[in-house]
Amino acid sequence: MMQIETHVDRFVRNCWYVAGWADEISADNVLERTLLGESIVFYRAADGRIVALENRCCHRGAPLHAGRREGDSLRCPYHGMLFNAEGQCTEIPGQEMIPQRACVRSYQVTERDELIWIWMGEPAKADPGRIIRFEWHTDPAWRKKRSYLHYHAPYTLIVDNLLDFSHLTYVHSTTIGTPSTASTRAQVEPIEGGLKITRRYYNDRIQANRSSIATFQGPADRWQIYEWFAPSFVRLYTGSAPAGTGAHEGRLVPEAMQYRHCSVQTPETSTSTHYWFTHAANFKTETSEAIDVVFDGVSRAFKEDKDIIEVQQKALQSGRPFQPMNIAHDQALVLARRLIQRLLDEEAQPDGQKPAPAAFELAQ
Ligand code: FES
Ligand SMILES: [Fe+2]
Repeated sequence: MMQIETHVDRFVRNCWYVAGWADEISADNVLERTLLGESIVFYRAADGRIVALENRCCHRGAPLHAGRREGDSLRCPYHGMLFNAEGQCTEIPGQEMIPQRACVRSYQVTERDELIWIWMGEPAKADPGRIIRFEWHTDPAWRKKRSYLHYHAPYTLIVDNLLDFSHLTYVHSTTIGTPSTASTRAQVEPIEGGLKITRRYYNDRIQANRSSIATFQGPADRWQIYEWFAPSFVRLYTGSAPAGTGAHEGRLVPEAMQYRHCSVQTPETSTSTHYWFTHAANFKTETSEAIDVVFDGVSRAFKEDKDIIEVQQKALQSGRPFQPMNIAHDQALVLARRLIQRLLDEEAQPDGQKPAPAAFELAQ
């Protein structure tokens, strides 16, 4: 039976999470960010690579981000121990001998598609080939904008929201929703590491906030096709074309309007979440860049999501223990929770004693 958590106490660890935008870390700043309940300090070494260290000195636990940079090292603000980019202590003021265990944890970090990715799981399992790609972030054909939201809710409530677009009709009625969204059933199929969700609309209308940049008049065929990867990554392809011109069969006329979207969440704590998103368009109108208009609506819509999810979290925390009741639109949510649970179960097992893969089928 699916539970709905107001407090997530176990995180999937063996995956690459987003830690921020790559340009948040310059040559000389120090950034503190809490991810999966752990405070981490980030900075850039002289060779440009990003260093990520446990933000708690091994001596008395002072936060290292409040200390000072010394070349590629960081000096603790309390009693001055110096840590190199690998987290090893290289100097203890007033003491000759430096024990091997004088160190803080260092995390593997890499930059890809303008995002910082961090591995907080078993170090030997970190494979950068498993990072979820957002290739269009660096493709000049796609003009994009980006934003960040901080949520007072566990990441699982945001996953629920992203996996069921029927809420667009009600939460986003003046921005990105249309009456057709709630009445259209999504097609859900398993893919490696996640789900593919397809929504197609025939002879529909363009979303309210996009009419001013429409490249055509009249009814539209629209699509929302996205891949969700456990535990919390979405790659979304969406767009509209004049109705009946073959978009749903793979033929895109020049007036077709296409968008791509990236939504990633990283748990901050058991009850709070970092949410980074970008939205991109590959067309412009005579008077404006499409993305400027569209992003305004997307940002307002995402604020609408935050508002409903944070009040949902408060409601769930009050009263008697809550048991959700599933409806037809919840098919993807149920499958996603099952997949996340499977990953957690696998991580809880010692290597060599993996459970048999759980059935991961579409039947509810
Ligand atoms: S707490 Fe860092 S040197 Fe003492
Ligand atoms: Fe939404």
